[in-house]
Amino acid sequence: MVPYLHRWWKLSGLQRRHRDIVAALISVRRLRREKVDGDIAAPATLCYVDTLLELGLGEDEMVSLCWEFMNAAAKTTSTALEWTMARLVHHSDIQRKLRHDITKTTNRGGVGVSPSPYLKAVVQESLRLHPPAHYLLAHTVDRDRLTEGGVGAMVDAVSCGGADIRMMPFGAGRRACPGATFAVSALHLFVGMLVEQFEWWPVVEDEKAAAVDFSEKTGLVTVMKTPLRALLVPTTSS
Ligand code: HEM
Repeated sequence: MVPYLHRWWKLSGLQRRHRDIVAALISVRRLRREKVDGDIAAPATLCYVDTLLELGLGEDEMVSLCWEFMNAAAKTTSTALEWTMARLVHHSDIQRKLRHDITKTTNRGGVGVSPSPYLKAVVQESLRLHPPAHYLLAHTVDRDRLTEGGVGAMVDAVSCGGADIRMMPFGAGRRACPGATFAVSALHLFVGMLVEQFEWWPVVEDEKAAAVDFSEKTGLVTVMKTPLRALLVPTTSS
């Protein structure tokens, strides 16, 4: 027990810190919604926190839901974007082809509404090569009818399949990612706009080292061990 005390202490500190950060953000939103005289002011746009506030949930539940949303939604999608741009920096020919395809098939700003087939393929391939949620979570049920850890516990999202399943970056079945469609649309939009507006070049500091390091840092979300660095040059169309 004693050797773990230090780690346990560190973990509780981190949990307190994360709770404080999220609770502070929630209270800013709560205050914005309340007028000084106690009337509820209608915010210009309704965000996720507003909908939770309307449900009248307790502070702990709010913190937990917001934290889940921040990690499940933002961290995964931004990580997928970084891996995709890293691949495009590495494969300048594919980047050029993608830019050409986007300009040919869409009007400026139309990227997100109707992604070109090549853009869709680039995003899919990147998710296949670098699924941000590499290992799926353990699912439990209220009845004891499953194997230890639940279905899908620590299943590898890349090499899980037989002949038919090649990839499942968003999981599968009832507990599959509910944000999959949103995430893929966001990736089409971001990747499309970033490639349309900028040329992405590698930053070469050491001639012997690879410009882009594709090593993974495994965690709840599998991120790039060395964050992507790139030189951005505005395209002539931007
Ligand atoms: C590229 C981006 C994303 C990837 C790769 C991803 C992947 C995943 C995976 C693999 C799971 C677990 C499925 C399982 O265990 O079977 C999951 C769950 C979840 N995702 Fe995503 N996700 C992404 C984006 C998003 C977004 C944008 C949202 C919300 C808008 C979201 C919300 C959630 C939630 C709430 C769960 C838990 C579902 C449950 O437990 O029933 N995800 N995601």
